[in-house]
Amino acid sequence: MQAGFKNKRRAHIGILISGRGSNMIALADAVRDEIVANAEVAIVISDKANAAGLIRAQERGIETVVIERGGRPREEHDRQIVAVLRSRNIDLICLAGYMRILSAEFLDAFPGRILNIHPSLLPLFRGLNPQQQALDHRAKVSGCTVHLVDATLDGGPIIAQREVPVHADDTVESLSARILLEEHRLYS
Ligand code: GRF
Repeated sequence: MQAGFKNKRRAHIGILISGRGSNMIALADAVRDEIVANAEVAIVISDKANAAGLIRAQERGIETVVIERGGRPREEHDRQIVAVLRSRNIDLICLAGYMRILSAEFLDAFPGRILNIHPSLLPLFRGLNPQQQALDHRAKVSGCTVHLVDATLDGGPIIAQREVPVHADDTVESLSARILLEEHRLYS
């Protein structure tokens, strides 16, 4: 072990969710198992009080905070989230099923340090319901993408992708489930 290594500050990861949180859990487990080394999931923030992922994060001893939009302008909502992330010294933000577009102010607060995972092979099938879009286009292959978040919709620089086959008899549920398995492996 290198001198000083033990005292090196671990990177603080903040994860934003809106729902189920299965990617958040996969990430948290990868951090726990040191597949993602020298890091800790310092906080999980949800914009929905009823997000199922909140309980799953709490079960793992991860701090959770709910910050609902509550009819406020996007910038105001984001400002509150940024303040909480800053108060926890967050280095890297992972969007994991976070169903909101980030304001310019949010992006500027963490330049090049916000990641997202999307269930298609970007740049194909951006936006909502990408699995349904893949079926509608009779794609033979789809998959998932981890990318940096910028001001475009699912358009930031691509970091990693995984392919999955699309079967002739796939439903949106069966394709989504196959892609989700790969998402859980890819994000960490
Ligand atoms: C995932 O398919 C992710 O790629 C997309 O939203 C879904 C979230 O699922 N952005 P979960 O909340 O991580 O289970």
